[in-house]
Amino acid sequence: MPGALRVGVVGVGQRGLNHVKALTELQQDEVVQLAALCDPWSDNLAEDKIKKGAPLYSPLGVKLFSSVDDLIASRAVDAVWFVMPPNQHKGEIIRAAKAGLAVMAEKPQTLFFDEAKEMADAIDAAGVPSTVGFQMRYDPWYIKLREYLADKWTASMTMLVESDVASHGRKHTHTEEKGGPANRVWTANRAWSGTTMVEAGIHQTDLMRYWTDDDVKWVQAAYVERPENLWAAEGDNPVAYTVTYGFRKGGVGNIIFTRPARVYYSGRFDYVLSLHALVKFEDDLVAYAYEGREYPPAQRPDVGSLRKVLARGPHADAMGDHNTKALGKAFAESVTMKKPGMSRATFRSGLNSLAAVLAANVSHERGGERIDLDRFTGSEEYARYRRRPAGMA
Ligand SMILES: NC(=O)c1ccc[n+]([C@@H]2O[C@H](COP(=O)([O-])OP(=O)(O)OC[C@H]3O[C@@H](n4cnc5c(N)ncnc54)[C@H](O)[C@@H]3O)[C@@H](O)[C@H]2O)c1
Repeated sequence: MPGALRVGVVGVGQRGLNHVKALTELQQDEVVQLAALCDPWSDNLAEDKIKKGAPLYSPLGVKLFSSVDDLIASRAVDAVWFVMPPNQHKGEIIRAAKAGLAVMAEKPQTLFFDEAKEMADAIDAAGVPSTVGFQMRYDPWYIKLREYLADKWTASMTMLVESDVASHGRKHTHTEEKGGPANRVWTANRAWSGTTMVEAGIHQTDLMRYWTDDDVKWVQAAYVERPENLWAAEGDNPVAYTVTYGFRKGGVGNIIFTRPARVYYSGRFDYVLSLHALVKFEDDLVAYAYEGREYPPAQRPDVGSLRKVLARGPHADAMGDHNTKALGKAFAESVTMKKPGMSRATFRSGLNSLAAVLAANVSHERGGERIDLDRFTGSEEYARYRRRPAGMA
């Protein structure tokens, strides 16, 4: 039995604490050893603060770093969980890969596609294991749904995500020292989050790909911009997003995302239609399909007779801690056991989800233009949208 994977976490903020919680739990089962934490701000490395998010945390045996490069050079870890804001990357993932370390990168991997591609190239050139923080890929219902759809052709999917500005929360990065928002709510800020579609909608985008084992081929988007006089109080991200994806196998997906202020309501609706079955998220996960040999049947079947339970409820929040832990466990074990298939995404496979949401922004900016992702990721026409803007640190 190989030893526990020595993990370092870079960025001990809101999400980093979720990972520290999961890792300290996995440490009890000797799947991992939490060997290092790295954060440029010492308050984020304080034991008391970390324990509030990860009660099992003990600083014993955990090396603390303020610089990622010192962590990489220390040889204290076999793998790094990168959990820093997406616009703050400066080649750390590339340097970690070159040093032979496995990489778990939180989504969005960066806000600039060219940089993400360089990271993927470095990871593949070094031959190190990698994954992206798409924890919903480990959700028991979604695994069942993917299995159900495996022999079907998905015609359409719709996801409605109703959320509000208030749900963003104050983050742990000292953004005010980095030219970012004074209130540290960087997810409401376009330059830091890349829009809500990029920062949060990447989860729904990736989920559509996961359910259908497919990739996004093209994207069209229309956003509703927030009036400028509200930016100071509510952030400068749009109020509402409508995004349509075309998938390689021919189906379409729609994501409607809302982020108003003063609406303290959150909700979610998902629907999946294969050629001959409708999947509904009820108290159980259910598919409605007539599977009789004769079509059409002599009599219209009773809907209840078509109802097939794919997974029993209640459905725990797919974004929740249990799936973050499952992701950490699967990735750590895939590394120690040298079985890449145990992990449900690689850094490179995550590029399509990232490209899709970045191209959604571009489609909106260009008046709803349909953007082919092969062209977005490779052609000169879109090169300026793939690069970090000149002058942005
Ligand atoms: N998978 C999910 O469900 C999920 C949920 C929330 C956030 N995220 C992602 O996790 C990442 C972090 O988000 P967050 O909510 O934790 O933000 P945060 O600001 O609360 O935490 C980020 C941490 O990174 C540190 N940091 C900033 N710059 C750094 C640098 N150059 N080097 C090392 N550390 C640095 C900050 O000090 C902070 O502690 C983002 O990419 C975000 O989109 C994922």
